[in-house]
Amino acid sequence: MKILVTGGAGFIGSAVIRRAIADGHSVVNVDALTYAACLDNVASVADAPGYVFEHADIRDAAAISAILDKHQPDAIMHLAAESHVDRSIDGPAAFIDTNLTGTYVLLEAARAYWVGAGRPEHFRFHHISTDEVFGSLGKTGFFTEDSPYQPNSPYSASKAGSDHLVRAWRETYGLPVVLTNCSNNYGPYQFPEKLIPVVILSALAGKPIPIYGKGDNIRDWLHVDDHAEALLLVLEKGELGCGYNIGGENEMTNLDLVRMLCSILDRLKPGETPYADLITFVADRPGHDQRYAIDPTRIRTELNWRPSYTPETGLEQTVQWYLDNSAWLNALQARSGVGERLGVAK
Ligand SMILES: NC(=O)c1ccc[n+]([C@@H]2O[C@H](COP(=O)([O-])OP(=O)(O)OC[C@H]3O[C@@H](n4cnc5c(N)ncnc54)[C@H](O)[C@@H]3O)[C@@H](O)[C@H]2O)c1
Repeated sequence: MKILVTGGAGFIGSAVIRRAIADGHSVVNVDALTYAACLDNVASVADAPGYVFEHADIRDAAAISAILDKHQPDAIMHLAAESHVDRSIDGPAAFIDTNLTGTYVLLEAARAYWVGAGRPEHFRFHHISTDEVFGSLGKTGFFTEDSPYQPNSPYSASKAGSDHLVRAWRETYGLPVVLTNCSNNYGPYQFPEKLIPVVILSALAGKPIPIYGKGDNIRDWLHVDDHAEALLLVLEKGELGCGYNIGGENEMTNLDLVRMLCSILDRLKPGETPYADLITFVADRPGHDQRYAIDPTRIRTELNWRPSYTPETGLEQTVQWYLDNSAWLNALQARSGVGERLGVAK
C-alpha cells in the first residue's frame, strides 16, 4: 500500500514510517519541519526505494493537493500536529492553526482527491489522536471509545476539535475515515521537551529532575513501536468510521515513572550518587489532568492487538537508546525552548 504520512519527521510519525517501510509499504512523508521535527528520525529508511519526503505544510491547500495528485496514495495517516501541552499554554494560536485548520485543509484535500478518483472503497483517512481529548479521570474508571469529550488544555481542545472534524467529514461527505486515540507514548526519538527524555537528560547532566506538582498524576504509558504497530493494524483492518482506543494498560504516577528511570540509569550508567537524589518538585502545570487510563478492549478483541513491551523492557530499551544517541540529543537540545520551563500560565 502507498501511505501518505503527515508529521513523519516527528516522534510517532517516524516510528510509523520505519515500521511501514519494514512491512513493505511505500511512504510519502509530508512534514513542515517545525521545531519538533528531525529528519534523522527517518534516516534509516531515507534510501529505501518506497520512501519519498515532501517538505510541505498541511495548511497549504495547493501544496497538499499537488502532493496527493502526484503520488496517488491509497491512504493518509495524519499525525502532523503541534503536540506539547506546555507550549499550548504559552501559545495556543499555533495549535488552533495546525491541529484544527490544518486538519480541515487536509480533510478537504483528501475529499477532493478521493472524489476525483471515483470514491475508491479501499481509500482510508486515518486520524491519529490522543486520549487527552477525554479529559481527566478520577481514581477509577477508564476511557472507552464512547467516553464524552472533555478536553482541558489548549492542546487537547485542538485535538478534540480535529477529531470532531474527521467524524463530520465521514458523516457528511462519506469520507472513509478511521480514528485512533492513544495514551502517552515513550521510546527512541522523542523530542527532548517531553517528560521521559527530560528526565534522562537532566539526570545525565547532574541537574535537578523536575516533577510537576506532587508527581501523583497518572498516565498510561505505551512504547511508540507498539503504537506504530497498532496504527498500521487499524489502517489495514479497522472498521470504517470507527474509533479505537490504544493503550498499554501501564498506569504509573509520574513520580513512580521517574524513580524507575532513575534506577535504570543507576544500573546502565552509574553516577557517584543515586540519580533519584536529583528529583525536585516544581510548580504544577495549570489545568494538569489527574489521571488518564485507556480501556483497550475493542482493539484487543476486534483486531487481536496487544503491546509487546512491558514498562520494564520498554523503558530500559529507551534509556539505552538515549545513552547511545547523544549526538541526536545534543543537536535537538539547541532548539528554542528546550530545557526551559514552559507552560506556566501568566
Ligand atoms: N506523543 C504522544 O504521547 C501522543 C499520544 C497520542 C497521540 N499523539 C498524537 O500523535 C501525533 C504525533 O505526535 P508526536 O508526539 O509524534 O508529535 P511531534 O511533535 O514529535 O511531531 C509532530 C510532527 O508534525 C510536524 N508538523 C507540525 N505542524 C505541521 C504542519 N502544519 N504541517 C506539516 N507538518 C507539521 C512537525 O514538523 C513534526 O515533525 C500528534 O497528532 C499527537 O497529537 C501523541
